[in-house]
Amino acid sequence: MTASVIEHNKFITPKPIISVCGKGGVGKTVFSALLGRVIIEHGLKPLLLVDADPVGGLVSAIGEKAVKTLSGVRDMFIEETRKGGRVSSRQIADQLDYFILNALVERNDYSLLAMGHTNEKGCFCSANKLLRSALDEIISAFASVLIDAEAGIEQINRDVTGNVNRIFVVIDASQRSVDTLNAISNMVNSSIITVVANKVLPENLLNIAKNVEIAGIIPENEILKQYDRDGLPLWKLPSDNEALIAVKNIAAKTGLI
Ligand SMILES: Nc1ncnc2c1ncn2[C@@H]1O[C@H](COP(=O)(O)OP(=O)(O)OP(=O)(O)O)[C@@H](O)[C@H]1O
Ligand SMILES: [Mg+2]
Repeated sequence: MTASVIEHNKFITPKPIISVCGKGGVGKTVFSALLGRVIIEHGLKPLLLVDADPVGGLVSAIGEKAVKTLSGVRDMFIEETRKGGRVSSRQIADQLDYFILNALVERNDYSLLAMGHTNEKGCFCSANKLLRSALDEIISAFASVLIDAEAGIEQINRDVTGNVNRIFVVIDASQRSVDTLNAISNMVNSSIITVVANKVLPENLLNIAKNVEIAGIIPENEILKQYDRDGLPLWKLPSDNEALIAVKNIAAKTGLI
């Protein structure tokens, strides 16, 4: 498992274990990718990046190619083992290290773990449960952890984010994104929540989130949109990109960097 020296002397306690949550389509993956870049650039590394969306997205946003997922590796193991006869839940549970080892992509500054989805019907253990167990196992090897969560509140409900000490909830200009924020606020200790507004004009913010304290606004950015449209990694955005700068400011303002 990765265990390099932490290079950041402003390392905060406890170490940041961050989940990025919110309604579908609000910009969780964009924010996760940009925040990941900011975290690495500020030396809070190695960073464990977790793509907890079964459909994925973070993997390509940071410029990685398709990777093996935890669930995919687990499903392959089940299929292989079945050829030799019945496979028990115990046998599968004992293979967690093997699943992690095969799914974890290790790079100099970060590692990447994608949850994926399962093909198993009536499954032995859900993809969410598998991810939670994997996180319990490997979080200690990293200086920071960043989880791009599935849309909505299911993963908070399922305690996938149980280790998390910071939840960034992304809202946009829709009331439903604020409804999701409220639902999340009712489920976790609100002191760990930081709200970020994405693609919102400052003048519209008040209409949407009257009583919400916002850590910052990420402007709608044409270059970023173009990168996403063309499948270019957001980590390659120029350092003066205004969306990236907004994320950096949010990270600074909230004491992350
Ligand atoms: N600040 C921004 N400026 C321009 N485009 C943006 C910005 N934030 C997000 N987008 C665009 O909005 C779309 C949705 O963003 P993103 O995929 O990050 O949302 P998400 O919350 O992760 O969605 P999902 O719930 O499907 O995972 C993408 O096409 C992305 O390029
Ligand atoms: Mg996403």
